This record gives sequence, C-alpha cells and structure tokens, in this order.
Amino acid sequence: MSDAKPLKDTPMVAGMYDYYLGGSANSAADRAAVDEIRRTCPEIIDAAWANRGFLQRSVKKMATDWNVRQFIDIGAGLPTQRNTHEVVAEVVPDGRVIYVDIDERVIVRGRELLAGVDGAAVIHADVRAPATILTHPETRRLIDFDKPVGLLMVAVTQFVPDADDPWRVVAAYVNAVASGSYLALSAPTSDFQATRVLDAVVTVYASTPTPAHARSKAQIERYFDGLQIVPPYEGAAPRVAYVGEWGADDVEAADSDGSRWFYAAVARKP
Ligand SMILES: C[S@@+](CC[C@H](N)C(=O)[O-])C[C@H]1O[C@@H](n2cnc3c(N)ncnc32)[C@H](O)[C@@H]1O
Repeated sequence: MSDAKPLKDTPMVAGMYDYYLGGSANSAADRAAVDEIRRTCPEIIDAAWANRGFLQRSVKKMATDWNVRQFIDIGAGLPTQRNTHEVVAEVVPDGRVIYVDIDERVIVRGRELLAGVDGAAVIHADVRAPATILTHPETRRLIDFDKPVGLLMVAVTQFVPDADDPWRVVAAYVNAVASGSYLALSAPTSDFQATRVLDAVVTVYASTPTPAHARSKAQIERYFDGLQIVPPYEGAAPRVAYVGEWGADDVEAADSDGSRWFYAAVARKP
C-alpha cells in the first residue's frame, strides 16, 4: 500500500466515503468510482449512512453515559457530515479528539476544519504504526493515557490486509489505553454478499491506494477478544451487531441491506 498520496484521477476512499454521504469533499475520480460501485451495489449509500450513524451514536453514548472525555479517531476521513469533535461538543465543552488519517487531503481539510477549535488536532499517519500515533506529540498533548479513552476504529480495519495482522494492530491500541476505555469498531463483511457484487466493490477499491478487504463475522469478533462487549441496544444481549442496529431507536427499521454490509460493536476494556 502506498502512503495514500492523492494522484490526479486516482479515487481516494475518504473522498468516496464523503460522496456516499452527500458531502462536498470529493473529486471527480472519487465520484466516478462511487458511480461505478452503485451500478452493482445501490445499497452502498445506505451502508455508508448506517456506518456513519454508528460512529456518531457510539461517540455520543461514550460521552453521555460513560463519561469518556477524550477520543482517538483513526481513519477519521473527516467527511462533510458531523465529525467526532462536533458530537462530543454537543455533550461536553472540554472534550479532546485526535484525528488520524493516511490521506493527505484529509489532513489538509482537517487543519482548516480545526483552525480555532480547542482540544482537537489531526495527524498524518498509518493505522499500522501504533507507536507513531500513540507517541505523537499532538497525541501526548491532548490525550491523558491514565484516563479512559474512546478508541474509534470505524470502517478502517478493512484497509489493513491479513498480512499486516489487523488484530495485532487493534490490540496495540487497546493495550495502550487505560482500564475503562472503550473500543468502537465497525468493519465490512463478506458474509452476505453475492460474489458478483462483492467482486465489483472490491475491484473499485483496488484502484485506490488503499484496497479493501471484507471479513467474516468470526474474524470481526476477534477484534474484541479480551474486552467486554456492550449490548448494541436496550434489551439485546452483548454481541457484535449489524452496524445500523447499534444504538438504534427502532431496530427493525434500522435493519437493511446496507446495514448488513458492516458488523460493529462497542466494548469496554476491563
Ligand atoms: C471509510 S472512511 C471511514 C471514516 C470514518 N471512520 C467513519 O467510519 O465514518 C476510511 C478512512 O480510513 C482512511 N485510511 C485508509 N487506510 C488507512 C491507513 N492505513 N491508516 C490510516 N487511515 C487509513 C481513509 O483515508 C479514510 O479516510
């Protein structure tokens, strides 16, 4: 994988994601890639919204119910739609957020977005380099590792191939945070998709600097080994759920073909 430098005419996953969500931070190449996917997989838009909702609902829950005041948002993307520091600010005035992304365009946009915002910063790094991210001066300035952290790895582990051991990568972050921290993680699954549809999506992502890998439920559950998964909604057993279900007011309405593209859970570090 490259360092995700945007080349002219190369689609970038952050821009594609922003376009799924109806934003303005995307290029013609991003839009063409999305249009290509939509021809085979129209529910991709719903999948992106379901995933974005999971990120926002899980951050709100952590800040409101579990008193989490600081967040590390890896593979943040910073799409046009309501980012983590905005969700946190709705709940607490003194929240802190470190955003991390591999895409230089995200970093440039992030610096503009965060100019004048206290308690939030963006750093350019690869999720596969936990030591770089965890010891970065901006991380150390904003995050107190003696206190609980909300670790957000939402729709990012699919960009780490098996050869780079995404389970070891996730564990490195979990090991670095205090007891009482929470991991929110979502990841696309290969479980339900027709081969033709999955191949079409994977082929478009393979034309970006960050190809994607969909995984089975069992593989996604492994990210939460050693953690206490919380129930995805009131009355549910603690488990990995479809992304739209998590924190949904109306779980039946949230169950859709798009939602079933992603599994998600939030888990507490004991
Ligand atoms: C699908 S977006 C997810 C955005 C946000 N986390 C969400 O779920 O709403 C994936 C983001 O991960 C970033 N990304 C991909 N590979 C990465 C890597 N190796 N390290 C850090 N970020 C990466 C992309 O640039 C993109 O912004």
